[in-house]
Amino acid sequence: MKKIYIGMSADLLHPGHLNIINEARKILDNEGGGEIIIGLLTDSAIASYKRLPYMTFEQRKVVVENVKGVNKVIPQETLDYVPNLLKIKPDYVLHGDDWKTGVQAQTRQRIIETMKQWNGKVIDIPYTEGISSTKLNKILKEVGTTPEIRGKRLKRLINSKDLVTILEAHNGLSGLIVENTSIDEQGKKVEFDGIWLSSLTQSAAQGKPDTGYLDTTSRMATLNDILDVTTKPIIYDGDNGGPCEHFVFTVKTLERLGVSAIIIEDKTGLKRNSLFGLEVKQTQDDPYNFAQKIKIGKQAQVTNDFMIIARIESLILEKGIDDAINRAKIYLEAGADGIMIHSRQKTFDEIKGFAKIYNTLENKKPLIVVPSSYSEVSEKELIENNIKIVIYANHLLRAAYPAMVNSAKSILKNHRCKETSDEYCMKIKDILTLIPGSY
Ligand code: SPV
Ligand code: MG
Repeated sequence: MKKIYIGMSADLLHPGHLNIINEARKILDNEGGGEIIIGLLTDSAIASYKRLPYMTFEQRKVVVENVKGVNKVIPQETLDYVPNLLKIKPDYVLHGDDWKTGVQAQTRQRIIETMKQWNGKVIDIPYTEGISSTKLNKILKEVGTTPEIRGKRLKRLINSKDLVTILEAHNGLSGLIVENTSIDEQGKKVEFDGIWLSSLTQSAAQGKPDTGYLDTTSRMATLNDILDVTTKPIIYDGDNGGPCEHFVFTVKTLERLGVSAIIIEDKTGLKRNSLFGLEVKQTQDDPYNFAQKIKIGKQAQVTNDFMIIARIESLILEKGIDDAINRAKIYLEAGADGIMIHSRQKTFDEIKGFAKIYNTLENKKPLIVVPSSYSEVSEKELIENNIKIVIYANHLLRAAYPAMVNSAKSILKNHRCKETSDEYCMKIKDILTLIPGSY
């Protein structure tokens, strides 16, 4: 009885996958039978090198289990096949022959070497032209998403990734940038996991101060613009959540729209941006008052997917790590799904000190940071300190503003627009075709 192992993600099962399974069936028919085992990559294995799959592991498993010829589906926990191969010792590993070149060539070589231990062989199946997961993914992106799928996505990311990376958007266009920007890093596709709807940048983009002046209706209008053109999960900056009576509505609205989480801060009174610290009057809420708001919010949500994250302002207001930890305990007890700890120090030390104690708490939930002022901290260091979500809270708008001012100045200085067109601007053709569906 021969054993054939095929590793796959199977998020969008297409004829290319079925062809490989069919080839496996033919081999078994010729060699007196056996079993086809699919090593189905887990969400974490997939997220380690590209975007999280659309379907969950369980959904993908049900699909693959029902494909003709498949005898068994087991999880492949890493991108690396070797741990499963050592357990199963298959006679053959089958894969599309596209892996002979590019970044996957090394993986293939390692599998060939491993299989030699028990005389197993790698068989490369000619690639099925005209269809690929990459193409299907592109089409799927154009189709869009649903509130339910998007809403659940943040929790899935938290469960599958060491660090979830979130970038600010303040309108549809910046939302598209967070959605679509990616780089290739040693064969891995690196992109942002989700979107931060910042009160600071949304207010600034509308020419308003970050003082809570924008009402919820106005915040929702921008949110809708972003929802319209993106599929990634969204974390909403809820300031202090407002009075409990209002917070209940905000939670319900956001959840219904497919927003994954709201972060609310433990402050009262007229809103001032935290990064002013003690330069302006800011008042921290009584922790038990704030805990009550969290509780009421948690009761208001309809599904288990929506997250209410408590933001602690003790370090901003120079009340020290002990105060922050004490509040974290109270907010976790009240049902907070995560803790955001903020600081305006120039170094990571203060947050690191907080994280060290926080990580010992038994009922801890994901820890979130916003390294605007301690911008030197690396993602590696955040991971080492068990921080789960990093929010780059304002960078797209901060980058756009000076570029726009320079362009305006250039026209004033040159009394024509040639210089700014040549130096600062994208080509007219590029702006015309920037937005999908323009022609
Ligand atoms: C925001 O982006 O609006 C935030 C983060 O709340 S901060 O500006 O640092 O307070
Ligand atoms: Mg804010």
